[in-house]
Amino acid sequence: MSLAANALDDPTVQAVLAREHQRAEDDDAQLAAVRPKIEAAKEAGASATEQAAHYPKTVYLAVAPDMGRFLYLTARTTAAQRIVEFGTSFGISTIYFAAAAKEIGGQVIGSELEPSKAARARANLEDAGLAAPVEIRVGDAMETLADVQAPIDLLFLDGWKDLYLPVLQMLEPKLAPGALVLADNIHTFPVELAPYVAFVSRTDGPYRSVVLPFESGLAYSFYEGA
Ligand SMILES: C[S@@+](CC[C@H](N)C(=O)[O-])C[C@H]1O[C@@H](n2cnc3c(N)ncnc32)[C@H](O)[C@@H]1O
Repeated sequence: MSLAANALDDPTVQAVLAREHQRAEDDDAQLAAVRPKIEAAKEAGASATEQAAHYPKTVYLAVAPDMGRFLYLTARTTAAQRIVEFGTSFGISTIYFAAAAKEIGGQVIGSELEPSKAARARANLEDAGLAAPVEIRVGDAMETLADVQAPIDLLFLDGWKDLYLPVLQMLEPKLAPGALVLADNIHTFPVELAPYVAFVSRTDGPYRSVVLPFESGLAYSFYEGA
């Protein structure tokens, strides 16, 4: 039996990832500049989406390399045919999923609110030679992902935190039995994401979950089916 070529460790893909992870490191300085505004909005009771309006359009807020590799491995080992991503930004996590999709003949549907970020994500995927299996839908994911076809094999949640639950609930009827739902930033936003974690942790619900100890915290949920 011949194995599909390892798309993630392709030198072109690794060069694009190294470049983009390096650029993402500038986030700290950019975020420090807007943190007081975000804190003030939080204290005034603003939603996570309203708080996030203060982020510059140039911040990546990307997954770290170890999580990216884990996303690739998860998609690859489960042979996820349809991967849906809430929150694409500049496409770093999307590149990891696209590498898996290329190997298994799958598809990635990304979503990004900000058109300039979506355009950069597309360019990065093209630079990596991984544009073919990816479609990026521009606009509010609650609208752009509403007509995604079933079955969804892997759902990755990484947009603004108040929408994790609404996006999951919108897409749940399309999840394949045995689908995985991965949600980043459980440790970064413990208060904002507490309702999400409670939802996927209900013992009488259709999910079985664990929060994996990546620095940002990754909720890993197995969907048993309706
Ligand atoms: C944490 S970043 C995503 C990082 C990306 N997954 C990565 O690892 O490279 C969150 C992104 O979600 C986008 N976003 C937030 N709310 C959204 C919505 N309602 N619809 C689509 N995109 C959204 C933001 O514009 C932002 O670029």
